[in-house]
Amino acid sequence: RSVIEGMGYELTAVEEEADLIGVVACSVRQKAIDKVYNKVQKWNRWKAKRPLLTFVSGCILPADEIKFLKLFDLVFRMNELPELPALVRQCGVSTSIPSVLSDLERNDERTDFWQVEPTYTSPYEAFVPIQNGCNKFCTYCAVPYTRGREVSRASGDILSEVRKLIEKGVRLITLLGQNVNSYGLDKKGEECSFAELLQKIGELGKASGQDFWLYFTSPHPRDMTREVIEVVSRYGCLAKQIHLPVQSGDDEVLRRMNRNYTVDRYKEIVADIRELLPTATLFTDIIVGFSGETDEQLDSSAKLMEEVGFNMAYIAKYSPRAGAKAAEWPDDVSPQKKSERLAKLSTILKRTSLAHNEQMVGKSCRVFVERADPRMEGALASRTEGRLPVRILQASEELIGTFQDVEIVSAAELSLTGRLQGSTLE
Ligand code: 5AD
Ligand code: SF4
Repeated sequence: RSVIEGMGYELTAVEEEADLIGVVACSVRQKAIDKVYNKVQKWNRWKAKRPLLTFVSGCILPADEIKFLKLFDLVFRMNELPELPALVRQCGVSTSIPSVLSDLERNDERTDFWQVEPTYTSPYEAFVPIQNGCNKFCTYCAVPYTRGREVSRASGDILSEVRKLIEKGVRLITLLGQNVNSYGLDKKGEECSFAELLQKIGELGKASGQDFWLYFTSPHPRDMTREVIEVVSRYGCLAKQIHLPVQSGDDEVLRRMNRNYTVDRYKEIVADIRELLPTATLFTDIIVGFSGETDEQLDSSAKLMEEVGFNMAYIAKYSPRAGAKAAEWPDDVSPQKKSERLAKLSTILKRTSLAHNEQMVGKSCRVFVERADPRMEGALASRTEGRLPVRILQASEELIGTFQDVEIVSAAELSLTGRLQGSTLE
């Protein structure tokens, strides 16, 4: 948005009015890519009636990239973003022949796109990229083929961006990367480790005297050291919430997924988190219906979910991705079975998160107020440090953007209801 606005374009909420339409694609599952194909076909019909420029970027598998070249005016990789103005200018004066930087050698090392200052959509919340790409090659995953190899952003740049955000009064900051805790490993000793980066941010937060919560997503269990958890425990601004994708609760499935850890190792990390961060909430990602997954193997995932008691789990049905190793194996769990397995795990999630939330009833907790509650007049939508949604009853919209102490009055499966501390509301 900031690059496009820098070219003089203005944002419109009405797609039909746009002169330039772009898609930032996600290739993690086929469904999202199917949507892109449907959209661009519609836009290409509009082009018969009026001038319109279209582009696509983001995460695109090589096979889709070739097809997109015929459907979009511009195709570029996200790290080529600084070239977008030049590409658009070129399109305007010449022909409608697709213009594409990606014809050039793929250059994962190019990192000047990180210098683009983002347009923040919220005054309270911001996302800070710290690394891009992945070297892990999980057999189901598109990311190593769409984003290339791991490249860490310079820690000095990350720290100065975080410092600026804190000074501006941003309250929720999330460090982003495909593998945040392998941060620095690609720089072979010339860059700090992820634990050290967190520590530096912790010190920055302490010195600033400002209240904010800093999150990171996602770490990989393989690189999840005790040191990272220790650093989080030491600083108030490092939020006590860990999102640690497990993907499966079965050792054989984990092996075929090339995850490089066992269920026992995952449980050890969970034990470290419970010991060092006793108040932390735990989120995960799980895939159901991976190639060859048996009913018994799904039961292992169910058992792990019961044991760990996640507060949130993003459960996905396996979707074969062209180029990833597992795409060569049969997608042999039927769509119906995948749905059943997803429902089974989702029932467990609801039960364990409800049990956790019920324990919070009657207790006081700190929340950050995000917006007016879209589903209840006079109520506010907020979140705990552990990212659990809390509806605050009968509270003024003036509190949006502030931290508040609330008393939890009731619990639901994936959310809570509270009232402002000191309020006499019944
Ligand atoms: N099919 C289904 N889910 C997937 N994910 C990644 N690749 C696939 C796939 N091919 C899920 C994983 C990952 C999350 C971002 O998306 O659970 O953690
Ligand atoms: Fe994909 Fe695995 Fe890399 Fe995560 S670690 S981005 S799941 S290949």
